[in-house]
Amino acid sequence: MEKVNKILQDRRFQEYVEKNLIAEKQRKFCNHNFDHLLSVARIAYILVLEQGLEPDISRETVYASGLLHDIGRWKEYETGKDHALLSAELSREILEEAGFERKNIAGIIRAIKEHRGTEKNKEKERSLLGDILRRADILSRPCWDCTAEEDCYKFDRMPTNQGLWY
Ligand SMILES: [Fe+2]
Ligand SMILES: [Fe+2]
Repeated sequence: MEKVNKILQDRRFQEYVEKNLIAEKQRKFCNHNFDHLLSVARIAYILVLEQGLEPDISRETVYASGLLHDIGRWKEYETGKDHALLSAELSREILEEAGFERKNIAGIIRAIKEHRGTEKNKEKERSLLGDILRRADILSRPCWDCTAEEDCYKFDRMPTNQGLWY
């Protein structure tokens, strides 16, 4: 996991995680902190193992995607732009410096862009990694234990509102 460890040590990665933390200090809904990023990475990898997708999708690829998928959330609060696209933009340099290959970077960036499941022609067009990331993102939220349940527009649609799945 050498390349993933480089992401963890990257000062931009650390700075963006810190910016998310500051931007969401008062947020009563789900946060996009380091715990969330790591949960998504781990659950995404469980899904990859369950579906037998390794070695086509490697552990490093999955962890990089999970760790980076929301790093632009703070910027969405500032600009109103979609954080999936912002996170993808901010990820490129970090992935390059961590030593990921070009083709691999393209796949990770695409998956980050797709993680909200809001792109056009979604089911048909979405990459496998993008779909894994989208599902892991949903499954990472312990909605059954949420204090903002009544105000959350997503609550009824979340499979985890009755318990933990992963
Ligand atoms: Fe997100
Ligand atoms: Fe997320």
